[in-house]
This record gives sequence, C-alpha cells and structure tokens, in this order.
Amino acid sequence: MEKKTNSTKREKDCRIKTLDKIFLENSVHEFINIAKDVKHEYWQKEHFMIDLPGKWEYSLVAVGAKNDVIGYVIASKKDSNIHIHKFMIKKSLRGLAIGKKLLTELCNRCMDARIKTVTLKVYQDNVRAIGFYKRCLFKRIGVEKGGILRMSAVPKQIKDSIENKAE
Ligand SMILES: CC(C)(COP(=O)(O)OP(=O)(O)OC[C@H]1O[C@@H](n2cnc3c(N)ncnc32)[C@H](O)[C@@H]1OP(=O)(O)O)[C@@H](O)C(=O)NCCC(=O)NCCS
Repeated sequence: MEKKTNSTKREKDCRIKTLDKIFLENSVHEFINIAKDVKHEYWQKEHFMIDLPGKWEYSLVAVGAKNDVIGYVIASKKDSNIHIHKFMIKKSLRGLAIGKKLLTELCNRCMDARIKTVTLKVYQDNVRAIGFYKRCLFKRIGVEKGGILRMSAVPKQIKDSIENKAE
C-alpha cells in the first residue's frame, strides 16, 4: 500500500516536455548520469547535442517538481519513420509508468504527423527493456553485429497497448 501511494505521487509530479537544445545543454550532466548504470551506454555531451532532423520536435524529457530530469526519450526523423536513439528513466524511478507516459506522448506526436513507424535498437541482453517493448507491440525486424536487435512498431498500436494495460 505504502509503495502504491509513493508511486502515484511520483507519477503526478512528473511532467513531460519537449526537449529543447538550451535545456539539454544546461542539464546534460543529468542526462548522462541517468544512463550511468545502464550497460553499453557511452553517450557524452557531444552525442546528446548532435542536431538531427526532427530531434527538437520528437525528443521528450520527463521532469520532476523542481524541473529535475527523471527520464527522457531522444528521437529523430529517419526517412519517414521516427527513430528512438535513447530511452532512459532514472534508476530509482523505473517501473512507475514514466516510460509509458513518454512513449504515449511520442506516439501522439507521431499520429498527428501521420508517422507510420517508430523504430529503435536494443541490445539482446537487455531482457527487461525487450520485454517492455514487446508488450508495447514492437516487433523484431533484424539483428545487427554485436547483438543489437532492431525493432519497430506502429504508433497507434503502441498507444493502444499502453492504454489497455493502464490500471
Ligand atoms: C526501459 C525503460 C525506459 C522503461 O521505462 P519505465 O518507466 O521503467 O517503464 P514503465 O514503468 O512505464 O513500464 C514498466 C515496464 O518496464 C519494464 N522494465 C524494463 N526495464 C525495467 C527496469 N529496469 N525497472 C523496472 N521496470 C522495467 C517492466 O517490466 C514493466 O513492464 P510491464 O509494466 O508491462 O510489466 C526504463 O526501465 C529504463 O530506463 N531502463 C534502463 C535503460 C534501458 O534499458 N533503456 C532502453 C534501452 S533501448
């Protein structure tokens, strides 16, 4: 019961914003810190700051009450799809539906822009993330050298799968 109350409070405190370049530049150390416990992660400031088509329209940040960064999705437009480059939630706040909230907002934007597909890459050993993506109806579309899985999904289907599972 105690845990549920805390979770609800955390969810309420979280706000989803479009990621802009100035915010990212000013808080990039927080973005780097969030990824620190995650295997294979290596992005530094220069990786986060790269300009890509659609990046400042489709990348989102989840912030707490003090505008502190608690999660993010870095995405850009690749061909006619949206590609997720990074999707991270602060370790202590994982499993509290913040990821689902970010993904839902990304899907809303994709649907508004008639984007047909969302793609991403995930290491095959990241079993929890792959489980999450599969439940969000991402399908495996290939495997790259080094054990990286390529996955894709339809925005409306992702959103429906998340909403159908909502409590
Ligand atoms: C994957 C990730 C972004 C999901 O965000 P989240 O806020 O934890 O996820 P939500 O609370 O919205 O959804 C919970 C789901 O995520 C899954 N999940 C994946 N990794 C998890 C983790 N480390 N801790 C808790 N839940 C995790 C749970 O199984 C759960 O699935 P279910 O609700 O369908 O049973 C987040 O857990 C994370 O940052 N993981 C580490 C970084 C990572 O692996 N990113 C993906 C790289 S491609």
